Amino acid sequence: MAFVAAAIESPAVSLPVAQRPLQAPTLLVFDSGVGGLSVFREVARARPDARFVYAADDAAFPYGALSDEVLVSRVGEVVGRLIGQVAPDLVVIACNTISTLALPMLRAQHPVPFVGTVPAIKPACAASRSRRVSVLATPGTVRRDYTAALVRQFAEGCDVALVPSDRLAGLAEAAIAGDEVDDADIAAEIAPCFVDAGGRRTDTVVLACTHYPLILDRMRRLAPWPVAWVDPAPAIARRVTQLIGPATAPADGNPVRVLTTLRPMEATRVSAIIGRQVAAPEVLGAIPTAALAAAS
Ligand code: DGL
Repeated sequence: MAFVAAAIESPAVSLPVAQRPLQAPTLLVFDSGVGGLSVFREVARARPDARFVYAADDAAFPYGALSDEVLVSRVGEVVGRLIGQVAPDLVVIACNTISTLALPMLRAQHPVPFVGTVPAIKPACAASRSRRVSVLATPGTVRRDYTAALVRQFAEGCDVALVPSDRLAGLAEAAIAGDEVDDADIAAEIAPCFVDAGGRRTDTVVLACTHYPLILDRMRRLAPWPVAWVDPAPAIARRVTQLIGPATAPADGNPVRVLTTLRPMEATRVSAIIGRQVAAPEVLGAIPTAALAAAS
């Protein structure tokens, strides 16, 4: 519990502000799938000077369904391999499911700054007028001590509903891949976020999985009533700049490297989301998935 309290004082990062700007920094952005692209696009907008690598552990998707033990070991292995290959100046863990569990381990293992993504409960509760807030997340993020501690510390008298979704990240993956996704399936996943009780309705929903902003238009349309949807991506982009200093001259136009652990991502779809040119997608050398199968 000591680590939880310490981490919450500075939930996204643990390093001091950069003293001088890095020239053409290499930034690695990591998630289990396409979700981290919702964070990536904000960071890329803020950092025209950076070289980017986007990496997704699609072989182990969804992370939200893995046990804590399996997730920590998997993330340790994949992120370690990526850092060895890419030698980044900073790593953005664009995944709540990892950040609420494994950031202390990653920071202890690698002497590179990490920026995490954790549920934006503090700003959501501060902004809610009805004092009813929902946090939509993977089952992993919902059950974390870290998330419970954020609620205890920052609810500010709001009723906070933690809403686990087994399927929404997968539905977002399918939608981004161009597959047909029924409105009814999305509507069923978001429905528990909308609470109308005691004369107060939910007015704020925290997008606590980075996949969800990618289908926000559909969620807005399917919501039973309008709410404010809180996406942490702009705050993460600001924090990156605090750590590596202000952007310098735009980078040399290097296309974004995209790495996966199973299937190559479609460059045109990635490019459409992030607004940058993408190099031919690469697949990271085989990383054994036997432990994942044993855990499920
Ligand atoms: N995008 C990830 C997050 O923010 C998780 C999706 C998953 O792999 O379950 O939590």
